[in-house]
Amino acid sequence: MSDEAVRGLVRLVPSWIVCLDNHPRSSRAMRTPISRLSFILTTALAASVFVSPVVANTGSPPAVRTSSGAVIVKDILTEHRSYSHWHLSLLDPIFMVPSTYAPGDLSWVGNAGIAGSGYVRKLALADLRALDQAARAAGIRLRVVSAYRSYSSQKAVFNAWVEKSGYASAVRYSARPGHSEHQLGTTLDFSFVGGADPWKYSDFGSTRAGAWLKANAWKYGWVMSYPKGAEHLTGYIYEPWHYRYFGRSLAYQQRVSGLVPRYWLWRRG
Ligand code: DAL
Ligand code: ZN
Repeated sequence: MSDEAVRGLVRLVPSWIVCLDNHPRSSRAMRTPISRLSFILTTALAASVFVSPVVANTGSPPAVRTSSGAVIVKDILTEHRSYSHWHLSLLDPIFMVPSTYAPGDLSWVGNAGIAGSGYVRKLALADLRALDQAARAAGIRLRVVSAYRSYSSQKAVFNAWVEKSGYASAVRYSARPGHSEHQLGTTLDFSFVGGADPWKYSDFGSTRAGAWLKANAWKYGWVMSYPKGAEHLTGYIYEPWHYRYFGRSLAYQQRVSGLVPRYWLWRRG
């Protein structure tokens, strides 16, 4: 690169950066265009190496509730939306997967030996079996109430809730199509054999099955997405029946992070 070309480039650099070489502490070496340019490029490289990962791993996801408690909805495609990134996909009232997102490796939940109905991704079957076996050993017969939901079935579910309680209320407990973790094929709603739909209890988390899940599901890789008292952070009401599969290692990491899953996912970026 010729000296003239370098001078041309330096002229494009904002004056607040260029004026560094007028500072009394600027070294003599900084006073040539080439050394000035290399200083700027080195600083930019250092900033991209040291600053970017920190920014990606701290902070909070966008607000999902206004100060008055209304749910903030948007339709932004979530960053991680390939089928192999099932453990990274952040879904909430703001971020979504496309309508075409439909994992091809779904399996009937009964293949894990658990009661109930629906489909789950094969990668979660072994730990679903382990969860069910551990619950049985504790005298609890878990039942899957809702499993994989396609974009169109989520649309039907959401619209039915809107019919029942109105839009402003429905968005607090039901995801709009594209926004549900059920579309990932790794999320299940649980009740117990002989029990009602879990949302019909005043607090499913206080039933024997709900309390057992709350204390033990993480050991088998299952994480409660919407814990109690976190509506302002998750956007959704407390759902002690809704568990998303992350695998044992990640579920452990989420637990020790002390963060609600949405914040934990955001910081994992
Ligand atoms: N009930 C949760 C938020 C869902 O619809 O996915
Ligand atoms: Zn659910």
